[in-house]
Amino acid sequence: MAVVNGVEKILAEYKCDTNLAVCLKLVRFPEDIEDEGIKFHPEYTHQVFGDDEVAFGYKGLQIQLFYTAGNLSTLFQVKYSSKVNETIHWVEPDDVEGKIRKILPAGFTHNTDDFISQLEKDANFKPFGTLLHTYTVNTEGGREFTYQIHKADITCPGFQEYHERLQTFLMWYIETASFIDTDDDHWDFFLVFEKYNKDGETLYATVGYMTVYNYYVYPDKTRPRVSQMLIMPPFQGEGVGAQLLETVQRFYCGNPKVQDITAEDPSENYVKLRDYVLAKLCQGLPSFAPDRLHLGFSADMIREAQEKMKVNKKHARRVYEILRLRATDMSDEAQARAYRLEVKRRLYLPYRKNQRELAKMRKCLRPEELVSHMGQMDTQTQHEELEKSYQDLVDDYRRVLERLAMQA
Ligand SMILES: CC(C)(COP(=O)(O)OP(=O)(O)OC[C@H]1O[C@@H](n2cnc3c(N)ncnc32)[C@H](O)[C@@H]1OP(=O)(O)O)[C@@H](O)C(=O)NCCC(=O)NCCS
Repeated sequence: MAVVNGVEKILAEYKCDTNLAVCLKLVRFPEDIEDEGIKFHPEYTHQVFGDDEVAFGYKGLQIQLFYTAGNLSTLFQVKYSSKVNETIHWVEPDDVEGKIRKILPAGFTHNTDDFISQLEKDANFKPFGTLLHTYTVNTEGGREFTYQIHKADITCPGFQEYHERLQTFLMWYIETASFIDTDDDHWDFFLVFEKYNKDGETLYATVGYMTVYNYYVYPDKTRPRVSQMLIMPPFQGEGVGAQLLETVQRFYCGNPKVQDITAEDPSENYVKLRDYVLAKLCQGLPSFAPDRLHLGFSADMIREAQEKMKVNKKHARRVYEILRLRATDMSDEAQARAYRLEVKRRLYLPYRKNQRELAKMRKCLRPEELVSHMGQMDTQTQHEELEKSYQDLVDDYRRVLERLAMQA
């Protein structure tokens, strides 16, 4: 027994958290390769290493995936201080290299010198597609950063291979990411680049991107659906996502064939970002003027948001609730109550439907079946949950309003 415990203890020492073991870098200068300060780690590794997000068989495991900042040419190296089969001969370590190879397109190198040669070629890298928007950000430290947003499609020379490298990042930052079939010409790609200076030359670094699929809507419209959006971690929380989403929204606004814009399985962060961008775009529309907001969500709002900003009806409703909150004096009991009722009425809709269905079921259920549905009928719990979702929603709306106020 003591021997078994001893072996188990040794084996446990060879388990590594893959969220920490995978090290990513966007490399601009040769010295970045050794710079620990610029590395970042995945949020998720379960799609590559399994639900436990663990690699077995190594001590001090580092799976290094370094990309040149522009073209994303890739250096892939696996490092460790020891392997389990050096101590216990009959135990095999996980094939971490094989797992990474499954998501990494051909053309990467294991060799640092080759990678440095590729880094030199990054000087020739130019953004793909057409330029839609340029903006600059001035930091408190007096530095100026310039970003460009481009629209590309798969016909741009070299883009397909570049996109294959770019989409490897999705595996680490989107919980249920999948790679897309770029042969389908319904895809639009929007890319963000930062312009930077290297040895007196202007170079371009990849910052983030969005993929949009153009669905057909009978009889002659399209409905672009945002599929994936990623801002590289070193650039997150600096307003790049908002700039990208606003640029994409404005791009489709100019196209009379576009009905409205939707999103595929949006994450919480994406919804927050969209709330902000759509509220910013709709706040100047006459139907969303403060005196109209108190009259309720109107057909005019739906029509104007859709026609002028390509905002989907469901999203227009959230924009209305956000802007109405701004126009409401929450210290005034009557106004606050009217606002609460208005939002809760929408939130309660699925709950009421559920209640009606349960009431119907109740009539035809046997007693034992009824017991199994009791949990669902606990109205007190449901009420508490709905109250909480209302509070969370209003908190999110307040953050959107703070951000709008900062930008004004
Ligand atoms: C979700 C995502 C696209 C947002 O992009 P982003 O560039 O970080 O977005 P922004 O910087 O515009 O806004 C993010 C936050 O930073 C804040 N922020 C923006 N500029 C800021 C600044 N200059 N100073 C301080 N905070 C700032 C915003 O207020 C916002 O805060 P909030 O979430 O509390 O409202 C990005 O985080 C991402 O790629 N995540 C991983 C993948 C993902 O979830 N994709 C979406 C679904 S497919």
